[in-house]
Amino acid sequence: MRLRVTFPILATLLVLANCGETGSPSQAPQPTPQAQAMRHMLADVDQIRAFLYGSGNQAGAASAASDLVAWARQMPTLFPPELASRQYVDMSPERAKAATAAINREAGLLLAAVQTGDHAAIGDRLAETERNGCGACHLNSTQ
Ligand code: HEC
Repeated sequence: MRLRVTFPILATLLVLANCGETGSPSQAPQPTPQAQAMRHMLADVDQIRAFLYGSGNQAGAASAASDLVAWARQMPTLFPPELASRQYVDMSPERAKAATAAINREAGLLLAAVQTGDHAAIGDRLAETERNGCGACHLNSTQ
């Protein structure tokens, strides 16, 4: 998995915050709405990649791409630039704004490619989506 979350300090703070709570130790911390949205987007990306590698079908991939478009539309709400720049240490308001625009643009282009059914075009768009869309917030090991 090439994606790497680039907010280690936030994760540390969340862990510390959870230690301070007195609930039962077996209680798992609730993922944030942002993290839940990310899991959906990752599942969509994975499903489209699986289609490229021969499992599933085009209808399933198209439905995953539509779902990704819908989640991308939530990004500006989940990451309001001013707030996100305070919540996440390495996210300036400008970066948050550019990143939410980028994932929306990429998701739309990916959906259009998936609808053509052309494997090479879908593969290219998927790579671009990960690099320019997800990668606008997440760094990968080659960067
Ligand atoms: C606008 C910035 C932004 C974009 C764009 C973005 N992410 Fe994230 N992602 C985050 C942040 C911030 C977190 C940490 C969320 C939290 O834990 O509250 C995160 C967390 C994650 C996680 C971990 C979720 C968990 O279970 O804790 C995954 C997986 C992930 N992102 C995948 C993706 C994928 C795949 C894409 C592209 C389709 C993407 N992200 C696009 C900002 C972004």
